[in-house]
Amino acid sequence: MSLGPDYFDGLYAADADPWGIERGWYEERKRAVVLASLPRPRYARAFEPGCAGGALSVELAGRCDELVCWDPATRAVEATRARLADRAHVRVEEGALPARVPEGTFDLVVASELVYYLDAGDREEFWRAVEGCLRPGGHLLAVHWLREAPEYPVEGTAVHDELASRPGLTRTVRHDEADFRLEVYARGPARSVAEETELR
Ligand SMILES: C[S@@+](CC[C@H](N)C(=O)[O-])C[C@H]1O[C@@H](n2cnc3c(N)ncnc32)[C@H](O)[C@@H]1O
Repeated sequence: MSLGPDYFDGLYAADADPWGIERGWYEERKRAVVLASLPRPRYARAFEPGCAGGALSVELAGRCDELVCWDPATRAVEATRARLADRAHVRVEEGALPARVPEGTFDLVVASELVYYLDAGDREEFWRAVEGCLRPGGHLLAVHWLREAPEYPVEGTAVHDELASRPGLTRTVRHDEADFRLEVYARGPARSVAEETELR
C-alpha cells in the first residue's frame, strides 16, 4: 500500500522536520548535488511534488521562471508557503501524485525522496503522470535514498530500476554513491550539456 497523507500528517505533527532535511551536512550536500546535476542553468516551468518544508524549493525557485510545489501534508504546505511568500513566481499547493495531476506542462520535474512511498500501481501512474506533463526535451530529476527503509513499499534502487525501463525517457545524468542515487532523464532523445551549449 502507498503511504498516504495521514501517514505524512502524523510525521509532521510529531516533528516539523521529520527527516532532518534542514539539519546537517548530509541533506545540505545532497541539495548541492541536485542543483549541480540540473543540466540547464534555467528552466521555464518546474514542478516539485513532495516539497516538504521547502528547503529544496527555495533553491529551485532561483533556477526557474515558474515553480509549482506540492505536498499532501498540510504542515509542509504551510511551511513552504511561508518560506516562499515573497516569490511571486512560486505556487505551493496541497496535492499528492498520482491522485491529483498538475495542470499544464513543465520543462523540469523534481522527484526527490518521494517515489518509494508509492506502491506498484501508484508508481506506474506516477511515472505516466510525469511523462504526460513533461515537455519534449524536458528533464525529470529523481533522487532516492538507497539504504534500508523497511516501512516503505519499495527500495530506492527499485524505483530507479523502474525509471530506467520507461520508454520515451533517456538518461542524461547518473550519480551513484552508497547513500543515494540521482538520475536525470530527458523526455525523448537526450543531449549532453556540452551538446546543449555547443561546446564540442
Ligand atoms: C522525504 S520528504 C522529501 C522532501 C524533499 N523533496 C526533499 O528531498 O528535500 C517526502 C515528502 O513527500 C511528501 N509526499 C509523500 N507522498 C507524496 C505524493 N504521493 N505526492 C507528493 N508528495 C508526497 C511527504 O509529505 C513529504 O513531505
